[in-house]
Amino acid sequence: MYSTGIIVQNERIAELTFRLALETEERLPLVNAGQFAMLRLPRRSDPLLGRPLAVYRCTEHRLEVVYLVVGKMTERLAEQQNGNTLEFWLPLGNGFPESTAEHTIMVAGGIGQTPFLMLAEKRDLQNPARYTLLYGARTKSRIACMDDFRRTGIDVRIATDDGSEGHHGFSTDLIERVYRPGESTRLLCCGPKPMLYVVFKIAEKLGLPCYVSLETPMSCGLGICYGCVVKYKDNPDTDEWDYRRTCKDGPVFNAYRLRWDD
Ligand SMILES: Cc1cc2nc3c(=O)[nH]c(=O)nc-3n(C[C@H](O)[C@H](O)[C@H](O)COP(=O)(O)OP(=O)(O)OC[C@H]3O[C@@H](n4cnc5c(N)ncnc54)[C@H](O)[C@@H]3O)c2cc1C
Ligand code: FES
Repeated sequence: MYSTGIIVQNERIAELTFRLALETEERLPLVNAGQFAMLRLPRRSDPLLGRPLAVYRCTEHRLEVVYLVVGKMTERLAEQQNGNTLEFWLPLGNGFPESTAEHTIMVAGGIGQTPFLMLAEKRDLQNPARYTLLYGARTKSRIACMDDFRRTGIDVRIATDDGSEGHHGFSTDLIERVYRPGESTRLLCCGPKPMLYVVFKIAEKLGLPCYVSLETPMSCGLGICYGCVVKYKDNPDTDEWDYRRTCKDGPVFNAYRLRWDD
């Protein structure tokens, strides 16, 4: 769905990190955790294209995203004032698959925590399944959104590269500390590609299902341009692969089906 929204919040919540909330007149569609929106600044030819951002929260008339300032679009976004308008398309992509696992371990790095909040908030509270977030940031000043995650009641563990908060090291170091053999467990991961690969290798070693959400740069976000393809194997036991579009067939992929050697 294409929509426009009025900015009602664009607040710095950590170093280079902002929470943006948009309100819309029309009713927004239902969004699943892991789906994303393409956001675009209206009446601008630079940047011309929209940018993909995970849906952090979405209610009937309000969309929230959290973004890290890294380049042209996110720099412009950070300058936007309340009352300004943004264009967006949502919901895009597939989102995280349903699961009956007793324990879901969500591993996030960089700004990769954003798609997991909806999963934590929308989980079935009658179901005793455990959810754990392992979140890694470069340093304490980059940690964002953890109050929102803690409020959901899930187990939150933090790691920083420099040891300024939580575990001194990577969030991936914590996987085997929270994993309980004998409990059906799935691993979900979002963050930089090298980190996704580490999580996949741990999943392979422990024999666990693993889904990764890719942050592949996108042009159209709608499945038209094929600018966001990844190599995907229908049969994980062979080397045969074909392209899949991250925006349409992903961004969440079964880690065992991706070709990681590129
Ligand atoms: C499905 C999906 C969900 C995403 N969710 C979020 C989110 O919730 N919050 C958030 O902050 N970001 C998210 N991203 C990443 C975000 O789309 C990019 O950071 C953004 O497009 C950068 O735009 P820019 O114009 O500011 O940077 P650009 O000027 O386009 O690029 C600046 C620099 O960053 C690099 N870069 C750009 N995009 C990416 C990328 N995707 N991965 C690695 N390097 C990149 C460029 O090569 C360049 O060096 C998501 C990406 C995808 C595909
Ligand atoms: S970004 Fe155009 S097909 Fe995915």
